[in-house]
Amino acid sequence: MALSILGYLTAFTPAFKTFTPSNPAGPEDWKDYKSWYKITKEPNTGDPTGFLDKKHRGTSAFRDVFINDKGKATNVGDAEFPYPEGTIILKEAFKSQKDYDAQKKPELTVMVKMASGSSPSTNDWMFYMGGDGKLSGTGMESKWGKFCGSCHINAIATDFTFMNHKFGK
Ligand code: HEC
Repeated sequence: MALSILGYLTAFTPAFKTFTPSNPAGPEDWKDYKSWYKITKEPNTGDPTGFLDKKHRGTSAFRDVFINDKGKATNVGDAEFPYPEGTIILKEAFKSQKDYDAQKKPELTVMVKMASGSSPSTNDWMFYMGGDGKLSGTGMESKWGKFCGSCHINAIATDFTFMNHKFGK
C-alpha cells in the first residue's frame, strides 16, 4: 500500500531538471506547453517590438508565447530578471490568421534557461528552431545561438526576451 502511494507520487511529481549544453532540454520538456501560462493575451501580429525583421514567419504571422511555471514570476514582474534556471519559453508562429483560427501547423521556437555559467554570451539560454529539438544552439559562436541570440540580444535588459511585463511600458 505505502509503496504504491510512493510509486504514484514519483510518477506524477515532475523532477527538477538541470539543463546544460551537454544535457539539453528536448521535446519531452515542453510537450505540455499548451497548459502553461500564456504570455500573449491576444496573438501578436505585425511587428509590435520593431525588431522582427521578417523572422518568426514575418509580419502577417499570428504568434502566441507560453512560459512554464519556473519562469512565470519573472515574466509577470513578481520576480527580478534574469529568469531562473529551468525556465522554458515557447513561441507558436502561425502563417496567417486563417491558420491561427484553425490552429494549423505552427512553427515552434523555444528558449531554455540552462544552469548558471553554461553559456555566458547568451545569458545561459539555449535556442531551438522547431519543436522537435533537433536544431539548437547556445553560445554566440554556434549557428543557432548566433542566429537567434544576435537578435534577442536587443532585449538584453529583460534577459533576451521581448514579451514580458516591461513590454510597451
Ligand atoms: C530578427 C530578430 C529575431 C530573430 C532572428 C529571432 N527572434 Fe525570437 N523574437 C523576436 C521578436 C521581435 C519577438 C517578440 C514577439 C513577436 O514579435 O512576436 C520574439 C519572441 C521570441 C520568443 C518569445 C519570448 C520573447 O522573447 O518574447 C521566443 C521563445 C523566441 N523568440 C525564440 C527564438 C528562437 C529560438 C530564435 C532562433 C531560432 C529566434 N527567436 C530568432 C525576434 C527575433
